[in-house]
Amino acid sequence: MKLPIKIAAGVCSLAATLLLLDGCRGPDPAAPRHSHFELNEAEIAGNPDLAEDPEARIALSRALTETFGSLAVPRYLVLDDWRRQGFDPNRWPMGESAEEGAEALGEEQRPSLAESAALYAGRCARCHGFSGGGNGPMAARLDTRPRDYRHGVFKKTPLAHGSRPRHEDLVRMLADGISGTAMPSWGPHLTVAEIAGLADFVRLLAIRGETERMAIIDYDAFDGFDQDAFRGYYELVVTRWLGGGEQLILPGHRPEATPERIAHGESLFLDPRGAGCVRCHGREGHGDGEASLVPDPLTGEPVPFLDEWGNPIRPRDLVCSPLRFGERPEDLFRRIHEGINGTPMPAHGGLLVTEPDGTRHSLNDEDIWDLVFYVQSLR
Ligand code: HEC
Ligand code: HEC
Repeated sequence: MKLPIKIAAGVCSLAATLLLLDGCRGPDPAAPRHSHFELNEAEIAGNPDLAEDPEARIALSRALTETFGSLAVPRYLVLDDWRRQGFDPNRWPMGESAEEGAEALGEEQRPSLAESAALYAGRCARCHGFSGGGNGPMAARLDTRPRDYRHGVFKKTPLAHGSRPRHEDLVRMLADGISGTAMPSWGPHLTVAEIAGLADFVRLLAIRGETERMAIIDYDAFDGFDQDAFRGYYELVVTRWLGGGEQLILPGHRPEATPERIAHGESLFLDPRGAGCVRCHGREGHGDGEASLVPDPLTGEPVPFLDEWGNPIRPRDLVCSPLRFGERPEDLFRRIHEGINGTPMPAHGGLLVTEPDGTRHSLNDEDIWDLVFYVQSLR
């Protein structure tokens, strides 16, 4: 039997091994402290009705300040329904205390949103921007752009495709960082309570940004700025951030990685009628499959896909590049099963595939494990 073991030496580009480590050098003394959130100007420019209506801009800005406070004093507006559920405007403990292990997170010393905003300004804003727009002064120099939280789309979660991360997912991601990108691991530099507070603040920035985007996109000059509609967007966005626990993907029992399983994973990977990974990741797994580039709508030239945020993105080189969203087999399982939010990498769980012998079935957990084992064998 042919074993799919690849000799990777010499084929990995030098760039792939360069690690970007600046970014956790401590607070940026030059960072100016802004006291107000900035409006999402790029989104506003996309809606001429709003861009050309100064009064509507002011109304939007007011509604946002009323709901989320300022950078100096960030908070959540507590709607009547929420008050009964013990909603805390300075933190948001709603629906998450059970799974978090309050002690482990330093619950007692957990900073307020205002304290976390100050820490964020010193440590994170240079890349992510003060208001979380992914537009800090360092952003343009980075190949993989810092996340713009305002889309509410996050990649490193163990949850079903499209779910908003749980607080604990953000905490873990901040502690570990994202390998192979400029996103540092903060575990060695900050206390557990500080990280928990930063996760609170990132969540506020995301919820504020999502609410703002909805209001901007839906604005039209005929109806004008509608305060009730704005409340509705806010409520909807907050609801999206609840209940992540039900979306957790449980990979179940991991079978043993036998040569037969790896070979089956390889055939699923390489067959376009199978899982079809080859289309993007290429025959050798270097991320250079025929679908890794798409024709430019204007020139017809092959160009990379654009991601959720409009930045070019390439399929991962599975042989040479570090895995960004977790090295454990369970992480890979979840990535293949659910895809990667905000990128062209699709969810494969349940996909209808044709085996080489012509039989058709949906990709089940066993198949996904076989793909995991094959990907591991490439590395
Ligand atoms: C040197 C630049 C840099 C600094 C400083 C930085 N980040 Fe990031 N961050 C990034 C990049 C780049 C990504 C995107 C990685 C990717 O998409 O694979 C990212 C991604 C993220 C994400 C999204 C994770 C996901 O699952 O999608 C969050 C949240 C985040 N950073 C929070 C923070 C916080 C909080 C701080 C400060 C404590 C911080 N970052 C500091 C560069 C940085
Ligand atoms: C339509 C194109 C496309 C297809 C099909 C596709 N991928 Fe991906 N894949 C991507 C892109 C793009 C990324 C990089 C995402 C990023 O950097 O955020 C990626 C990233 C990955 C990663 C890296 C995860 C990490 O933690 O860094 C793995 C593993 C992966 N893909 C495996 C697969 C497997 C296995 C299949 C088939 C079952 C597959 N992909 C099918 C586009 C694709």
